[in-house]
Amino acid sequence: MTRLTRLNSRGRWVLISLAGLWSQALAGPASALPGSGIPPDTLAQRLQPCTACHGAEGRASREGYLPRIAGKPAGYLYHQLLNFRDGRRSNAAMADLLAHQRDDYLREMAIYFAALDLPQAAMPSGNAPSDVMARGETLVRRGDASRQLPACSACHGTTLAGTLPAVPGLLGLPRDYLISQIGAWQTGKRHAIEPDCMADISRRLGAEDTSAVASWLAAQPVAPGWRAGMADPGPKPMPCGSVSQPSR
Ligand code: HEC
Ligand code: HEC
Repeated sequence: MTRLTRLNSRGRWVLISLAGLWSQALAGPASALPGSGIPPDTLAQRLQPCTACHGAEGRASREGYLPRIAGKPAGYLYHQLLNFRDGRRSNAAMADLLAHQRDDYLREMAIYFAALDLPQAAMPSGNAPSDVMARGETLVRRGDASRQLPACSACHGTTLAGTLPAVPGLLGLPRDYLISQIGAWQTGKRHAIEPDCMADISRRLGAEDTSAVASWLAAQPVAPGWRAGMADPGPKPMPCGSVSQPSR
């Protein structure tokens, strides 16, 4: 349990309460006995500890930024759970929680959270200078052909709400989270299923590009009912393993 020492007291509390719930969950479905005081065993109940960290509002914490997960494409969530469990994406709390969990249980969790419709929390609006915002918008919507940088919208969708089955939306995420995820791909701390298109794209972005893109994205309002597109929009400008092999 040495990893626990790296969490702040709240994170530690959540993990400790979670350990109890989690061991019950692992014990498999225990149905409620009338009058026993044991609550009925449902997936919603077993996954409730996840929402302690991942509620409607993503927020910063000492362990890093806690992204909201409700309503993201199921394929994307499933891949992230596999990535944390198998070490392609590194976060001690997530790795501890998911160690030894079976693929089909991870898939069930992903489907559950993808269907969950929590209201979007308002994001603070950005305050970057207008030339930075303009550069960010150009990169997001048009890319930069001279550097073989495709537009972000080519894969994340014209409304940037993400595309099914496995590309997440880019709005409603704080600037710091966006910068840290792109940075994690640049330094090899985050990987997706190969070919890892986001690693290639992140390495083509300089520090100023990353900052401009993140500032512009974080300042965009999230429309009510905004969800990943219902269909895959077509061929991607470069291959992404997580899109071509959604069920792996
Ligand atoms: C102690 C707090 C904590 C708990 C409890 C927790 N998580 Fe996380 N989770 C995190 C942090 C921190 C990250 C972001 C890590 C990073 O920056 O890469 C994360 C990331 C994720 C992501 C990736 C999100 C994205 O948009 O890429 C998914 C999916 C996820 N968690 C699912 C779960 C599920 C399912 C549970 C319950 C089994 C759970 N988490 C419980 C802290 C927590
Ligand atoms: C060729 C397709 C493609 C293009 C172009 C693309 N992305 Fe992505 N992006 C993906 C895929 C696929 C994922 C999911 C990767 C995974 O499974 O971890 C992703 C994930 C992300 C994430 C992680 C989101 C989260 O919740 O953690 C960020 C941030 C991101 N992309 C930003 C960008 C930005 C900024 C651009 C433009 C500069 C861009 N992407 C262009 C395919 C693409």
